Amino acid sequence: MAENVPGKVSGKVSGKVSGSFGTPLLDVRGVTKSFGHGRRRLTAVDGVDLRVGHGETLGLVGESGCGKSTLARVVLGLERPDAGTVRFDGTDPFTLKGRELLAWRRRVQMVFQDPFASLNARMSAADLIGEPWRTHRDILPTARERERRVLELLSLVGLRESDAHRYPNEFSGGQRQRIGIARALALEPDLIVCDEPVSALDLSVQAQVLNVLSELRTRLGVSYVFISHDLSVVRYISDRVAVMYLGKVIEHGRADDVFDRPLHPYTAALMSAAPRLDVSGAPPGEEIALYGEIPSPYGIPSGCRFRTRCWKSEPRCAATAPPAVARDATADPGREPHEGLCHFPLDG
Ligand SMILES: Nc1ncnc2c1ncn2[C@@H]1O[C@H](COP(=O)(O)OP(=O)(O)OP(=O)(O)O)[C@@H](O)[C@H]1O
Ligand code: SF4
Ligand SMILES: [Mg+2]
Repeated sequence: MAENVPGKVSGKVSGKVSGSFGTPLLDVRGVTKSFGHGRRRLTAVDGVDLRVGHGETLGLVGESGCGKSTLARVVLGLERPDAGTVRFDGTDPFTLKGRELLAWRRRVQMVFQDPFASLNARMSAADLIGEPWRTHRDILPTARERERRVLELLSLVGLRESDAHRYPNEFSGGQRQRIGIARALALEPDLIVCDEPVSALDLSVQAQVLNVLSELRTRLGVSYVFISHDLSVVRYISDRVAVMYLGKVIEHGRADDVFDRPLHPYTAALMSAAPRLDVSGAPPGEEIALYGEIPSPYGIPSGCRFRTRCWKSEPRCAATAPPAVARDATADPGREPHEGLCHFPLDG
């Protein structure tokens, strides 16, 4: 990945920051979310647990339709879960009303996938970045303060002061995404949910935007939930990773543990299909075929939901749901757990 960011913000980039789990910033437990009715009911997110520490980046990976964005919408308070709890700094955001709800909304922001569609073409960069202050008027009450802060935010994301009065169509895709990031930062959030923030960008520009996000975390201590189907991007940015398949987190752990020694066959297959990554958890010299289509969410396979595509599948996999298995749990009790749902996990 490129290290140089044009107009780069100053300050040391210390790389990945370990989250503290004494009190996680975000604590998601058993969250389930379904859509539709009767036979046309599908469970997009099925009993998911997630934690994000202060200043930590959690990567969320999985194929299209596995429930990443639905989970993100629950975390953002845009969808109410059918079951389970969301705690943000110990508070359930779905119980908040009025001023408390407004105060919470400040703390959790979003960066969208498509910097072309997500910015209003008729607003200047300064107006786009400052728009959240219209709702949260108390933050920067005077026009002078707002103008000064817009310039600071532009500089923070590697844009120039002279960019303040330009319009979205005058920027490149990477620059537009920087505006999206500056806008997400306007309310000084604790958590930013980034849903495929670089997938619409060229590879070289992806690296620049990832560096901006990474530097902001170091400078501001902000946490991210970082959603992507691109494993190399997730590996680059994440401290911990959760891998989703058909609505469930089937493996999670520290990014290096999950990527260097996947324990779930699905993770290993995903990595095998990703040309830019090594697959040390795969059988030596073999490429693992991720064959077949993802099953319809209306007809989730019995037992292990990955069994219709798994090269290790055995009769037990169809008969019973796989248990949670942990790797090296006893070797180092202080280490982040590395767990997966599988009857026959890989050896690593
Ligand atoms: N509002 C909705 N009504 C009905 N079904 C929905 C709704 N939102 C999502 N779904 C379904 O829930 C499942 C999960 O969708 P989601 O958008 O969360 O997946 P995703 O992992 O973000 O996929 P992608 O990588 O393509 O963005 C899909 O089967 C989708 O069709
Ligand atoms: S439980 Fe069976 S089918 Fe499922 S991932 Fe493990 S080995 Fe494959
Ligand atoms: Mg999505």
